Amino acid sequence: MKAVIVKNLSYRYQAEGKDILKNISFDVIRGEIITLMGLSGCGKSTLCCCLSGIIPNCQGGIMEGEVLINGIDTRDYGVARLAREVGIVFQDPDTQLFSPTVEDEIAFAPENMCLSPIRIRERMDYAVDLLGIGSLRNANPHKLSGGEKHLVALASVLTLDPSVLVLDEALSQLDHAGRRKVAHALEKLRSQGKTIIAVEHDLKTAVIADRIMVMQNGELTRYEPRETFLADRDFLLASRLI
Ligand SMILES: Nc1ncnc2c1ncn2[C@@H]1O[C@H](COP(=O)(O)OP(=O)(O)OP(=O)(O)O)[C@@H](O)[C@H]1O
Ligand SMILES: [Mg+2]
Repeated sequence: MKAVIVKNLSYRYQAEGKDILKNISFDVIRGEIITLMGLSGCGKSTLCCCLSGIIPNCQGGIMEGEVLINGIDTRDYGVARLAREVGIVFQDPDTQLFSPTVEDEIAFAPENMCLSPIRIRERMDYAVDLLGIGSLRNANPHKLSGGEKHLVALASVLTLDPSVLVLDEALSQLDHAGRRKVAHALEKLRSQGKTIIAVEHDLKTAVIADRIMVMQNGELTRYEPRETFLADRDFLLASRLI
């Protein structure tokens, strides 16, 4: 089953501006991990916003084509409803952290879904244990390191139990041990049928990907199994990925 279908997606921020995404089409099968790579400014974060429905629901501009998450057209639902299908961790975690403590932050989404206190506690404990951030429960999210902030943002997204996760460089600020821990958590989520699209700059963090996607200047230029991609040493050298 296809968790994500993107058809002929083009987007520009201003009506008279240039296309930032150019006729992108791809799909992602349920339970896949996709690593999205590309040079700074090529449009990765913009694509993440399209996948989460922020574009076109909260951001102006001109979007053409379609994005379907679990068969749902992102144009047809508001972001609150879409958040139960697709969760996003932003490149800049400060944009999504606003509570006085980590625990309040993680409880916020399930509280808004009016879940029972027992269910809220279960979801919180699950996310906190999965990501190994129990020691941060009482901390002020704004005083954490960049990597820790991303983990808290990911935990709060997980409490909504979305089947698709979009991670925009959410591992980039973690140290080696932290990345391994999160990679392990992502593999566990995949084994539960979650679909994960993760923007990464470093090929080392792509080791758990099933397929790798490369964007160049708003276009999707490669999308293939990890083994095929890693075997193309000429491309990796030319792109300075090794
Ligand atoms: N809100 C905005 N309004 C206008 N232009 C924007 C906006 N956000 C991004 N852009 C432009 O869109 C292009 C793609 O930006 P985007 O942030 O999607 O790239 P990226 O691949 O995520 O880059 P990075 O690796 O640096 O995070 C850039 O030229 C950027 O200046
Ligand atoms: Mg970006």
